[in-house]
Amino acid sequence: MTSEPINLHDFETAARSRLTSMALGYYRSGAHDEITLRRNQEAYQQIALRYRVLVDVSARDLSTTVLGQRVRAPMLIAPTAFHCLATADGELATVRAAGSAGTVMVVSTLSNTAIEDICQAAEGPVWFQLYVYKDRAATRGLIERAEAAGASALVLTVDAPLLGRRERDVRNEFRLPPGLSVKNLMPAGLDEVSHQLQESGLAAYFASLLDPSLSWHDIAWLRSITRLPLVIKGIVRADDARRAHDAGAAGVVVSNHGGRQLDTSVATIDVLPEIVAAVGDELEVFIDGGIRRGTDVLKALALGARAVLLGRPILWGLSVAGQAGAERVLGILAEELELAMALCGAPQIDTITRDLIWSRT
Ligand code: GLV
Repeated sequence: MTSEPINLHDFETAARSRLTSMALGYYRSGAHDEITLRRNQEAYQQIALRYRVLVDVSARDLSTTVLGQRVRAPMLIAPTAFHCLATADGELATVRAAGSAGTVMVVSTLSNTAIEDICQAAEGPVWFQLYVYKDRAATRGLIERAEAAGASALVLTVDAPLLGRRERDVRNEFRLPPGLSVKNLMPAGLDEVSHQLQESGLAAYFASLLDPSLSWHDIAWLRSITRLPLVIKGIVRADDARRAHDAGAAGVVVSNHGGRQLDTSVATIDVLPEIVAAVGDELEVFIDGGIRRGTDVLKALALGARAVLLGRPILWGLSVAGQAGAERVLGILAEELELAMALCGAPQIDTITRDLIWSRT
């Protein structure tokens, strides 16, 4: 009997015993009662597949493109903060795993490693997730650095004007351990998250430095200061997706921040169809939240997503075995997706279509 993790749930179980309770609490927490955190996963379980038979699936191809960049499978690494809590090499391990899996890493503003160092270690595309600071000059500086370092898209998070209340972090008095900082923000003097001593260091950091007045008007400003394509992350409504399109976005991520922001908000897979109906012909629509199985990826694609983003499972992989662990997580999910495609009679990505989803009506 093998004790190696054989699926993404195993990675989570194994990671739990390797992380400090503060790090584990930070990574796994959702907001308040964690209803959305659970709902994201449960919603996939409610969807039934209506597979095709007698299709030649002897050759299978998982590759696709995202914003014009080829990826080996429709699974990107979502932006998540503080990878040095999981493994000593932090985001360097993550970007190397992305490179060897042939996919994109979306680097968080709140990384422990500077964007320049991450891009230097990258073998594939890096996108940069942006939080907008009250200090617009600092925000602009951050974008310019990401662009100069070689990031090929900006992913603007819009579901966090204030940080959701994660009670595990409140109880643990979450803060970064000594020696870790937010490297991207040091030049602007905005890296003091590690020194905040309030009940939740990160929530206090957000409230003091990030801009809760950010609105649709600011998207034009953002677009005027960068040549990078803009992806807007945190959308759960068709009308907001339409506004993202009208504001010039190249894509949207259907996301509720992994259930970490507004608790009881809707599961992302449940709103994907309305968003695809509104903008799917014009924008690339991505989704994150709750994806743990190859069949989940297949369902998201069948409902119109271009690709999915993986957050926590990558953190569990990093916690268990650094770069190799994150690679294994991506590898297992790709193997599961390939099997699901074969069993659904959908051997290429463009054959994963809506009719594979069963509906009562
Ligand atoms: C940061 O973006 C977080 O969700 O903790």
